Amino acid sequence: MDTSYKIRVDQSAEFLKKWNTNAPDLCLVLGSGLGNAIPGIDSMPALKFSEIPGFRSSEVVGHASELRVGNVNATHPATGKSITRKIAFLRGRNHAYEGFTAGDVVHNVRAMIAWGVKGIILTNAAGCLETSWNLGDFMLIEDHINLSGLNPLSGLPGNGFGQRFCDMTQCYDPAWGKVFLESAAALGVNLHRGTYAGVLGPSYETPAEIRMLRTLGAQAVGMSTVLEAIAARQMGARVVGLSCMTNYGAGLLGAETRLDHSDVVHMGASVAKTMAELVLGTALGLAFAHSSEH
Ligand code: HPA
Repeated sequence: MDTSYKIRVDQSAEFLKKWNTNAPDLCLVLGSGLGNAIPGIDSMPALKFSEIPGFRSSEVVGHASELRVGNVNATHPATGKSITRKIAFLRGRNHAYEGFTAGDVVHNVRAMIAWGVKGIILTNAAGCLETSWNLGDFMLIEDHINLSGLNPLSGLPGNGFGQRFCDMTQCYDPAWGKVFLESAAALGVNLHRGTYAGVLGPSYETPAEIRMLRTLGAQAVGMSTVLEAIAARQMGARVVGLSCMTNYGAGLLGAETRLDHSDVVHMGASVAKTMAELVLGTALGLAFAHSSEH
């Protein structure tokens, strides 16, 4: 059995345990254009991905490739309770379209969980497949369709992370999804619910592919999230996901409209403040055994 993959994840986790013995309960993975949205993130203790043994590092524009850990204090929008929660922020992620294997795509999330993180919030920029939704709207990911052709559990029988034939019936935690919906209602944010189709990319879809995805029942399409969600579930972490609708799927606005990555990053950045309020409000409302509430 090839154990080198597990050893590398453990190396990352051991390093993190020495860096910070008290792992946060929660890790927030910040997608394209969303990495600058968290208030105070730049003054939180940081590690570049390249400083963490075994970590993989992405070069995509709009990603900083670093881990930040900090205490977030706020009043939870729905309950009015003042809460402090320590949160790990993965500012940037690895994508399979950069040439990473599925194992490398999920390495950083696996290392977070091996460190001690119990729940993962995955955020992403996504193409919107619903013409009645507005750009800049958010969608709670209730389920996904993995069309990437990859699976982080393949090739590593008995890899020490959990079951190979991992149940995916409720990949996205319904109770935590409810907290997202409550936070959104309290903040006056219109939060849609739907299914995220995960594709390999990096080319955007053709109009025919967008028609196919709509027929399959997806409301959003993107090039991340699904592999991380699978790996996190295999390791027993709770998962929630939030998509920001940065553009309509190819062809939905007519044959002349083109997609441009810089528009995706720009739209992500322009709604990032709202996303941060929504995600942090939700993060503070999630139930954990060890949070300090007063
Ligand atoms: N397709 C795939 N991934 C994306 C898109 C899209 O239209 N927008 C943002 N990420």
